[in-house]
This record gives sequence, structure tokens and C-alpha cells, in this order.
Amino acid sequence: MKITSICCIGAGYVGGPTMAIIAQKCPHIKVTVVDLNVERIAAWNDKDVTNIPIYEPGLSDLVAEARGRNLFFSTDVEKAIDEAQMIFISVNTPTKTYGLGKGMAADLKYIELCARQIASVAKDNKIVVEKSTLPVRTAEAIKNILDNTGNGVQFQILSNPEFLAEGTAVQDLLFPDRVLIGGNLEGEREALDSLVEIYANWVPKERILTTNLWSSELSKLTANAFLAQRVSSINAMSELCEKTGADVNELSRAIGMDSRIGPKFLKASVGFGGSCFQKDILNLVYIAKSYGLNEVADYWEQVVIMNDHQKRRFASTIVQTLYNTVSGKKIAFLGWAFKKDTNDTRESAAINVCDYLLHEQAHIAVYDPQVKEKKVFNDLQYLDSRSLEEIEKGITVFEDPYEACKDAHAIAILTEWDEFKAYDWEKIYDNMQKPAFVFDGRNVLDAKKMVSLGFVYSAIGSTN
Ligand code: NAD
Ligand code: UGA
Repeated sequence: MKITSICCIGAGYVGGPTMAIIAQKCPHIKVTVVDLNVERIAAWNDKDVTNIPIYEPGLSDLVAEARGRNLFFSTDVEKAIDEAQMIFISVNTPTKTYGLGKGMAADLKYIELCARQIASVAKDNKIVVEKSTLPVRTAEAIKNILDNTGNGVQFQILSNPEFLAEGTAVQDLLFPDRVLIGGNLEGEREALDSLVEIYANWVPKERILTTNLWSSELSKLTANAFLAQRVSSINAMSELCEKTGADVNELSRAIGMDSRIGPKFLKASVGFGGSCFQKDILNLVYIAKSYGLNEVADYWEQVVIMNDHQKRRFASTIVQTLYNTVSGKKIAFLGWAFKKDTNDTRESAAINVCDYLLHEQAHIAVYDPQVKEKKVFNDLQYLDSRSLEEIEKGITVFEDPYEACKDAHAIAILTEWDEFKAYDWEKIYDNMQKPAFVFDGRNVLDAKKMVSLGFVYSAIGSTN
């Protein structure tokens, strides 16, 4: 079947960029991205394209080119479902915060709502594509709902997990390592081929991988678990480096040159963040436990335990180094986003480090080039560990990094933004309390230069 009309439910970090690329590469397809969030859709439709709700290098240009031509953003979910031949489900699948599986399992309520809505609206056959990251065998549940609540039309389910990373979403989508499409190969060949055909407009055929549904669903969780595991592994070594005089950057280089290990994802840090690594591993742990595979579950859970330890360790080192008290001291945070080149702060290590230091009665001064005050406060409120009044008293968000660092007792680097390297560190030093401490949670600064300027500088995984 030649697809000419697509709907994507969920205009978030995945739905927005993926659909913008499909619209750009397939001018013959009308792509409508829908969301319940009125504010978000309004921002996608903002006349000034720099106001789109997601900051990703290159994204606003793409949207400017395709929007109004064959890319549309709307809150009319039913109309978009009705008109589409193929429907991508790209809604959020957060960790459950209640009931059975609380704190572990993926909350599939938004997925089920989408399935029920598609079933009730569809008056002709539809291909339903799982774009969200889902527990293995979710397609079975979606199919059940569609077949039992629909209007007698045929639904074919495909799994097409997304592997883009934030900050590089556009490049990742334009030049993916692979596109993965899962389907039940007997009944769904035609549906599968029609999705392959869409990607083939810009992705070389040999990079479009087709598998059965369950392999595709489980591959996504596995990919994130392996990536996060590498970060936790190098972070575990960083602590040992600090004790032994080895340098974790040298360690990464040394092991990364082994072609069987490879150099990527070996950067020691204050801990991984982002909306997915922790959520997806906990989900994997929950699935393994539900099959009684306790050793498998424990193995993967350790990745998250190590990450929590790394974040706590970073915060407690700050307190210990500042003579065991940060009470009333100004600590400047450079960076709040979970990585550079994004305004996303979900599960950012900065949040936990800040929470820890607020408990120690520090005053936190935050500067991030892409994160606004409201988001910082919201992130702390979400933790539910103190009132908004206390949060506002404990944190000040600055628009100028030099102001954030002025009179600070210490600076903590939480995100690896490139601009931090180019700052006038001498000027920052002159305006700080002495001794002037820098805790580089991303190993972005030149240790020798910092020490020569007078800073007491500590990095992750080395003793300088
Ligand atoms: P997001 O929270 O940014 O966006 C999800 C959107 O879905 C929200 O705007 C929400 O309002 C909307 N939504 C929820 N239920 C809806 C409904 N019934 N009808 C219409 N809209 C609805 O989430 P995201 O970061 O884009 O992630 C989406 C999925 O993709 C998740 O499963 C995630 O694990 C996966 N994923 C995310 C990334 C990433 O980099 N963020 C990468 C790969 C995969
Ligand atoms: C990650 C995966 O890389 C994507 O393939 C996947 O699609 C996505 O999750 C998802 O499913 O949501 P993302 O979370 O956007 O992408 O960003 P990453 O580049 O993977 O970084 C995750 C976290 O690990 C960040 O906090 C980053 O700073 C940290 N990290 C990464 C390190 O500390 N060290 C490294 O060497 C690499």
C-alpha cells in the first residue's frame, strides 16, 4: 500500500522531530502531528519558528520548510486518526508512580487511551505503528484492544522504536545507524513493506532492519540498557581511579581503542540522566522479575544503583571538600539540562545534586543556556521533597553565568555545554570566594589551566 497520509499521536521530543523528517523527505505524504497538550501544539504552530517547544540543532529550519506544506500540528486527534492510513503512537510511557509495579513498570495508560481512541474513530483499515518505547509484547495488548473495541475494520500493528538521542536528533534521524521495524511477518508483510518504503526515501535499504514484533520491542529496551550500562561501568571505574591515581579519561582512551569495546559512551560523568535510560532499565528489570528471572533483573538493576551512587557521591564530595558544611554558602551550577544541546531536564543529574545540597542548606545559583527558571523550579517540585516557597528561597536562576558564579564558594559543572570551556575563568576566579572550588562533573575544563589560575579543581575519576 502506498502511504500518503500519516498521523502521529504525541508531539513530544520523538513525535515532533521524527515527523518533521518524514515530512521533509516524503513531500508526497501528508503528516499530521497531534497532541492533547494545547500549549505544546500552539508552540509548534508559532509564527516565529524559533519558539517551537523543543530545542534541537537544525529542527526549526526543518519545521519552517515543511510546516503548512505537508506537515501539520493539531489538537484535533480524531480528525487526524480518521484521515490517516498509518498512525504512529509516540506518547510518553513514564515509570508508574502508583499501584502494582510502582517505581518500576512502564505506565501504559496513555498507550491504551490511544488504542481505544483509534479503535473508536477508525472507519477503514489502519496500520498502527508503535513509536514509543514499550515493554515486550505490548503489541499483543494493543491488537486486543483494537480488535475488540473497533468498528470491524482491520488493524495491523508494527513496532518501529526510535533510537535518536536528544541534542543530535536531526542528524540521528537523517543518518540513522539503522531503522528497526518489527511485524508479524505472515499477516503483516504488506504493512511492513509500506513502512520500509517510507524510510527508503532517505535511509539506505541495508540499514532498514526487519524483525518479528517481539524482537523489535525488546531490542529497544536492550539498546538503552547496554548504553546506560557502559556509562555506569566507566563511572564505577572513575571512583576506583580517584582512589588509585589512575585517570579515567586515560582509561577510556585505552580500552576504547580495542575495536571490540569501541570508544563511544565511555565518558565518566556525574551520572546519566534523560527521560529514558532509568525508565527503560527499570522496566526491563520489572519484566525480568515478572518472568521470575531474578538474576537477570538484579544484573540490570545494578546499572541504576551505580548511577544513583555516582550522583550522590558527587554531591557529598562537594560538602566534604567545603569543610563539611555548605550551609548558607552559594554554590553555582553551570548546566541544568541532562546533556548539552537540549533544553530537556528530565531525570537530569543536576536535580538530584541540587536536592542533596539544598538539604545541606546551601544556596544554589543556576545557569543553563537553554533552561528557564520555571523549569528548574518545576523539576524540584516534582521531587516533592520541599515546598515551592523553600525551593524559591534556596535557588536563584541566572541568565548570565558570570553573575551566577559571583561570590560563589564553589562551582559545579553539571552539563557539558561547549560554551563553558570558553568562559573567562580568570574573571570568574577573581569574583569568587576563596578558596575557589570547581567540581567538574563532566570533565570539560582543562585541569592544569584551572589549577594555574588558582582554583581548587576536582574532576570525575582523576586526582589531577
Ligand atoms: P514527550 O513527553 O516529550 O511527548 C509525549 C507527548 O504525548 C506529550 O506531549 C503528551 O501530551 C502526548 N500525549 C500523551 N497521551 C496522549 C494522547 N492520548 N493523545 C494525544 N497526545 C498524547 O515524550 P517523548 O520524549 O517524545 O517520548 C515518547 C516516547 O518515545 C516514550 O516512550 C519514550 O521512551 C520514547 N523515546 C524517547 C526518546 C527521547 O529522546 N526523548 C528517544 C527514543 C524513544
Ligand atoms: C538515549 C540513547 O542514546 C538513544 O539512542 C535513545 O533513543 C534515547 O536514549 C531514548 O530512548 O530516549 P538520550 O538520553 O537522548 O539518548 O542521550 P544520550 O546521549 O544517550 O545520553 C544519556 C545520558 O548519559 C546523558 O545524561 C549523558 O550526559 C550521559 N552520558 C552519555 C554519559 O554520562 N557518558 C557518556 O559517555 C555518554
